Amino acid sequence: MSINNAWLAVCDLTDIVPDTGVCALIDGEQVAIFHVQHAQEKVFAIGNYDPASQAAVLSRGLVGSIGERVVVASPIYKQHFDLKTGECVESPEYSVRAYATRIEGGRVWVQAGAQTQAYDEESAEAHQDVHAGALA
Ligand code: FES
Repeated sequence: MSINNAWLAVCDLTDIVPDTGVCALIDGEQVAIFHVQHAQEKVFAIGNYDPASQAAVLSRGLVGSIGERVVVASPIYKQHFDLKTGECVESPEYSVRAYATRIEGGRVWVQAGAQTQAYDEESAEAHQDVHAGALA
């Protein structure tokens, strides 16, 4: 039976060391869940499988930011993945899915099967802004 679109309490927020990620198995998929201390939204969830290195490692990546974007750097080839959208900053063809998250009662909730837009024109434009900012 699929639990598509169900909200699942995965762990307590305090279970995740600030500015690191953990991996959870949700509806048969490995999901990388991050607790980002400085971000407005404190918890993010994206697919754990890095298409560039073909390894399930994103939960172990380094959390950082590029401009306004909160990202994780893959531990293998160091591509950056936007934690909100799952977009791979350097190579959009390697983008991963992003999951809706919320914090309630001190617990981290992830919506199974929920997918946010990984790449669209708007984010492509934002990407160019990020690049311009990086070069400025
Ligand atoms: S290539 Fe887009 S941010 Fe550098």
